[in-house]
Amino acid sequence: MNTILPSVSDKSIVMIGLMGAGKSSIGRRLADALNLEFVDTDDEIVKAAGCSIADIFEIYGEQAFRDLEERVIERLTHEPRRVIATGGGAYMHPETRERIDENAVTIWLRADLDILVERTGRRGGRPLLEQGNPREILKSLIDKRYPVYAGADIIIDTGPDGHDITVQQIVSALQEYIKAST
Ligand code: S3P
Repeated sequence: MNTILPSVSDKSIVMIGLMGAGKSSIGRRLADALNLEFVDTDDEIVKAAGCSIADIFEIYGEQAFRDLEERVIERLTHEPRRVIATGGGAYMHPETRERIDENAVTIWLRADLDILVERTGRRGGRPLLEQGNPREILKSLIDKRYPVYAGADIIIDTGPDGHDITVQQIVSALQEYIKAST
């Protein structure tokens, strides 16, 4: 039993949000704080495919990536509890979303456009942002995806604060969420 979050001991915690929101780096720190294992769905997809995400998009196309993403998440939601960071498009898939909503507590890391542009500019390997102007692409993804991400159990705003502060906010929000749902 997890002593920090005793009453959701069987549910995984799934991080959702746009590219650059910090799902992986904050998710990893959150897992440490909660004494849970961490897994990143993009890493699992790369392992399963044996090549990078950029190569999957380029060689097999986005749909092949989405199919792999769906399968990886289906598997992970049946495995023991942990913190799962998803790629930004995962929660947009209706069946995947339903599966995540049923089996996990969802945390949306919400960030504004400037933060996302700045953070995604630090690391490449995101094929969607290479199809045009990254700011415009992120803006249109915000318009399309934020109304759907809003269905998350917990919403946390991430800004220029350090990740440790965000992790503390998530832990408190999880404790509140558990209190309210028991
Ligand atoms: C994607 C986000 C990426 C990765 C892929 C597609 C998206 O993950 O899954 O490039 O559709 O938003 P991150 O959100 O971890 O960058």
